[in-house]
Amino acid sequence: MRRKLVAGNWKMHGTLTDNDVLLTAVLAGMADVKAQVAVCVPFPYLAQVQAKLAGSAVAWGAQNMSQHAKGAYTGEVSAAMLNDFGCRYVIVGHSERRAIYGETDAVVAEKYAAAQAAGLIPILCVGETLSEREECITEQVVGRQIDAVLAKSGVASLAKAVIAYEPVWAIGTGVTASPDQAQAVHAFIRGKIRALDAGIADSLVIQYGGSMKAGNAAELLAQPDIDGGLIGGAALVADDFLAICKAG
Ligand code: 13P
Repeated sequence: MRRKLVAGNWKMHGTLTDNDVLLTAVLAGMADVKAQVAVCVPFPYLAQVQAKLAGSAVAWGAQNMSQHAKGAYTGEVSAAMLNDFGCRYVIVGHSERRAIYGETDAVVAEKYAAAQAAGLIPILCVGETLSEREECITEQVVGRQIDAVLAKSGVASLAKAVIAYEPVWAIGTGVTASPDQAQAVHAFIRGKIRALDAGIADSLVIQYGGSMKAGNAAELLAQPDIDGGLIGGAALVADDFLAICKAG
């Protein structure tokens, strides 16, 4: 049985004070939560979050990392540095990284491999834009994004990874994929992996992300192939985030 994973992606939000208030409230509400829970925070707050969450039921991670191990890469952060702060997860290939910072499938595959080499669990984000959905090429796009990782790291690597299906048109827009729309893509992803390795496919956690909120989480998470959520805006409000965690 797959255990659901609800992860907050704080994006570029937070202050020392706000983070403390948010995490205090989240920790206080964890007693009724069955899902695994994590927060992926901006780099400068990793030490704070490590100190606050160590020994709790809430794991933490980062939102990006360098594909390189070390060297003259001004402004970059390596997987080993994330390990120094106890990260369990790192998001790779978020659509904002792909669209705004030009990360290609090949770069994302390198980051995924570098994360795993350091013992981190990559949360690999995949998803189509609105125009790609309208062109009916969602499966080609998502398939291509996953193939880049499979070509570099192989299907066995998915035993220590999470995939997040995040349709770009649903991110931060308030427009959520319907449970049927999301389930269809999740089933496509699992079927693609099942064709390579049934055991890996059955244990793979596939999260949905894109305007998941307290009000729509339960029906999304009730779908057979939706194993959790990657939560943006709603992860910044403790009651909303906890409601999603409890729906899982
Ligand atoms: P929203 O929940 O704000 O739509 O963001 C989703 C997301 O991008 C999570 O990575």
